[in-house]
Amino acid sequence: MTETLAPTDAGLARAAALLAEGELVAFPTETVYGLGGDARSDMAVARIFEAKGRPRFNPLIVHLPDLEAARSVGVFDDLAERVASAFWPGPLTLVVPLRPSARLSPLVTADLPSVAIRVPEHPVAQRLLRAFGGPVAAPSANPSGKISPTRADHVLSGLDGKIAAVVDGGACAVGLESTILGLVGEPAILRPGGIPAEALEACLGRPLPSGGDSAKPTAPGQLLSHYAPAAPVRLNADKPEPGEFWLGFGPEAAGADLNLSETGDLVEAAANLFHFLRQADASATGPIAVSPILEKGLGRAINDRLRRAAAPRG
Ligand code: TXA
Ligand code: MG
Repeated sequence: MTETLAPTDAGLARAAALLAEGELVAFPTETVYGLGGDARSDMAVARIFEAKGRPRFNPLIVHLPDLEAARSVGVFDDLAERVASAFWPGPLTLVVPLRPSARLSPLVTADLPSVAIRVPEHPVAQRLLRAFGGPVAAPSANPSGKISPTRADHVLSGLDGKIAAVVDGGACAVGLESTILGLVGEPAILRPGGIPAEALEACLGRPLPSGGDSAKPTAPGQLLSHYAPAAPVRLNADKPEPGEFWLGFGPEAAGADLNLSETGDLVEAAANLFHFLRQADASATGPIAVSPILEKGLGRAINDRLRRAAAPRG
């Protein structure tokens, strides 16, 4: 079911066309194989989470062919320009402020005001990104909780039938994910990886705090405050109380003010989630009542996000 494409001009043209249709294509980078989707498409990014079976909408890395393209998605200050010029293309991801005109799906950034950007060096990744001509969201191409793939057959053993294609570019050289350097606020290493901390410290001329190799697990996406609606949120609402804004799900929610998916499709609901939460918040004059959502597949990630939206604020 999943096509295996050779890294030829024809194979890469096919891969780029699939990406443009909102399909998922795994491709080699020098670190690991990435599971790519159009970072501007809500449905494509929702499909990434579905294919991986991720229980959370943690933010994804956006892949671009060069620094110039990266500047259209993120805001690069002097420090960011210096590190990017020194290490790109290569196994380094930079977290920088999101450029509002980037028009990325909010699912890519988990609705954060920052974005993780990587310019990979692998020639096949380079050619695919240029053929596609847009930002590609790509976590490692493995089911959630499994080992990251460094060969096309590893990708297939986990995701065959769940993605449109894999570009076979042989084995990855680094075999370990990219180092993630956070440049929003004080520079910090958010995840150790292919570029050693010492090399970054030498470039920046200062020591870098690192949470990545200490006892404390680093989950950068969770450390940042997420957008929460100003209105109170009531979950598992079969129908709204008077004065509530009804954010529905499925055919049972006919008459809802907004419906995450009228047909009860979880991928569509995930694609709409961040947009509709904002819309509900803007329109609601009272609490937001949200229909129950099945706790399975993407429903788990949707419910995780909704529980955060409904949690008491500090
Ligand atoms: O080597 C790699 O980096 C591979 C290949 C495919 O490029 N990609 C990869 O992507 O590992 P992914 O999506 O699995 O990595 C996401 C990591 C998570 O730890 C996430 O928390 C962090 O990047 N991240 C993404 N956006 C962030 C943001 N705005 N702020 C802080 N951390 C962010
Ligand atoms: Mg991974």
